[in-house]
Amino acid sequence: MLIRTPEQDIERVLYTEKAIAARVEQLGAELTAKLGDQRPVLVCVLKGASFFYIDLCRCMNCPIDMDFIAVSSYGAGARSTGVVRLIKDLDNNITGRHVIIVEDIIDSGLTMQYLKQLFAARDPASVTTISFLDKAGCHDASLKTDLVGFEIGNEFVVGYGLDYANYYRNLPYIGVLRPECYN
Ligand code: PRP
Repeated sequence: MLIRTPEQDIERVLYTEKAIAARVEQLGAELTAKLGDQRPVLVCVLKGASFFYIDLCRCMNCPIDMDFIAVSSYGAGARSTGVVRLIKDLDNNITGRHVIIVEDIIDSGLTMQYLKQLFAARDPASVTTISFLDKAGCHDASLKTDLVGFEIGNEFVVGYGLDYANYYRNLPYIGVLRPECYN
């Protein structure tokens, strides 16, 4: 059987496995310095952030609590539907806790805005936001993310958790998808 590999759909590699690992290590150290003595709750925004989240947790040299929330706004399309659907809520009460929202990418900014509002209503001690990628030119400049791995342009990227219609998440690097794959 001839298997079509995800690699064939990648126009170019943006961040190699090695570059990703080096940046995650720096981000883990920064978060540890900032909140390491507070036993923060790290919230993984499923599914996209899953790879980054696990790597980041391993790079934090302090006690943490892990929790997971699932939201979706893209479905099988390449553009946000404009509506964020809550699929799975947190397991833990975050009132009085220091919360870190861990995202893979900020694109329109809708998901992060939604999560910040949702969590603010639960009276946490603080909310810190981190995203591995930020398409800074695609959202309102007022939406600030506390820590960002890399700022990227308006390109359709996949791999390291990022998908198109649920494909490509398991690529170990981040690459630009050929436009013919989603047009
Ligand atoms: C993706 C991504 C972010 C969000 C960013 O999630 O993982 O959570 O979109 O886009 P935005 O800034 O325009 O809101 P998606 O809704 O595709 O769900 P998934 O993580 O399960 O792929």
